[in-house]
Amino acid sequence: MNDKILVLDFGGQYNQLIARRVREHHVYSEIKPYNKISVEEIKNAGYSGIIFTGGPNSVYDEKSPHYDPTLLDAGIPILGICYGDQLMAYMAGGKVESAENSSEYGKTMVTFEENILFKDIPEMSICWMSHTDFVSGLPEGFKRIGYTDKCPNAAMCDETRKLYGVQFHPEVTHTEYGKQVLYNFLFHVCNCSADWQMESFAKSCIEKYREELKDKKVLLALSGGVDSSVVALLLHNAIGSNLTCVFVDHGLLRKNEADFVEQTFKGKFGLNLIRVNAQERFLSRLAGVSDPETKRKIIGEEFIRVFEDEAKKLGKINVLAQGTIYPDVIESGKGDSAVIKSHHNVGGLPDIISFESIAEPLRDLFKDEVREVGAKLGIPKELVWRQPFPGPGLAVRIIGDITKDKVAMLQDADAIFREEIANANLEKDTNQYFAVLTDVHSVGVMGDARTYGVTIALRAVTTDDFMTADWTRLPYEVLAKASNRITNEVKGVSRVVYDITSKPPATVEWE
Ligand code: XMP
Repeated sequence: MNDKILVLDFGGQYNQLIARRVREHHVYSEIKPYNKISVEEIKNAGYSGIIFTGGPNSVYDEKSPHYDPTLLDAGIPILGICYGDQLMAYMAGGKVESAENSSEYGKTMVTFEENILFKDIPEMSICWMSHTDFVSGLPEGFKRIGYTDKCPNAAMCDETRKLYGVQFHPEVTHTEYGKQVLYNFLFHVCNCSADWQMESFAKSCIEKYREELKDKKVLLALSGGVDSSVVALLLHNAIGSNLTCVFVDHGLLRKNEADFVEQTFKGKFGLNLIRVNAQERFLSRLAGVSDPETKRKIIGEEFIRVFEDEAKKLGKINVLAQGTIYPDVIESGKGDSAVIKSHHNVGGLPDIISFESIAEPLRDLFKDEVREVGAKLGIPKELVWRQPFPGPGLAVRIIGDITKDKVAMLQDADAIFREEIANANLEKDTNQYFAVLTDVHSVGVMGDARTYGVTIALRAVTTDDFMTADWTRLPYEVLAKASNRITNEVKGVSRVVYDITSKPPATVEWE
């Protein structure tokens, strides 16, 4: 059994980073909202240590998050960070004050005193601060182990109970020795072993669900995206054919993608997968619709309906599995387990089918960690490393109304573009790339004849987080080859343009 650390979430902005930093030290960590886990549950879960996160509140605010002080005597080491530090002081009977005139924001020099938490760290170093309140009176049994010009107790500890608090944020890179502080807490205070790998995650997750979902019927909507693919394989390994995956082919996927997903999961991995060929159903509901948001809404609603129809055929289902990952939890409202992934393509939980519970094995992981799990499970790299693909699929890449012919035309142009990027070995140099079928017609010439065809736009973006993006400087030769092939091979296209707009002001998608 690997050591595990609980990150008790009090609403701070860096909570996910804390959990991640712990995992980077090869110790498993999971985040739980403070109001969703009791002292008893914490004690029974076998944590080797706890980290109290920061939070936006002041401990004396009526609505500020608090926690049962008996946790401090549970015999589990605790590290409080920022609000977590102040809360620890408050819980232990110390004093916290608001320092309107001496708040500290940004890089601050901290002086450390001799302590195991600061082992192998110089006496003075730069730390990242972001606070107005501070611990003005140390609780009984605590001593100061760090200070700044403005903050008399920038770090404190009660060595007997193994309680540590720091006013700064060790999890952000601006804190010079933050990594070492976490290292010291994990390995010198909590005595953890650094033996956790993504492989261990996959293994323990499979074991956990094998036990928890024994004799249960589980249903998963498999899209072929990274998250749902990884959930499918984890649960398939845990419960085999008690997992049913429903893959809705809405006809707006990339060329040959639906077949690839089916072959991979049904063929290669032997999953109990139902492919629903709902192309006609989606196309007929989308006929004549040009407005992007209406398209999205129709697809979301129809998806739920198709999914419900399939679920009903299956009879009693106990559990709904979902590919929720940590950033989704954040986006959809802090840590509330009842919140369903706010997926643009899934309009909500099907209400006709009732489930006893929801299984979300990837809830604590980041995208790159999910990819790592996927790779360990043997999912093909085309799936594990795939670029994002919007839920409504090609519907938002066809400007104007959608027809079967337009979908086919775009699929062909898009496949050529992707093929040329792959031929030039540029897949890792651009984060998302695709073709758009615009509604612009223009004059062309083919042989001796005048043509009047559509315009395909090619888009490739470079980005870290898709919130902002720059257009990728693809080599001219690659663009030339793609353009040449698209106009030659895709009937009805007379012009190809390359989108050279960044985000903002443009978005990644055209609709
Ligand atoms: P935008 O166009 O908003 O795209 O700059 C940012 C990222 O989000 C993807 N995207 C979507 N994904 N449903 C999705 O599942 C959608 O409706 C949707 N719209 C945009 C887009 O592909 C890009 O990766």
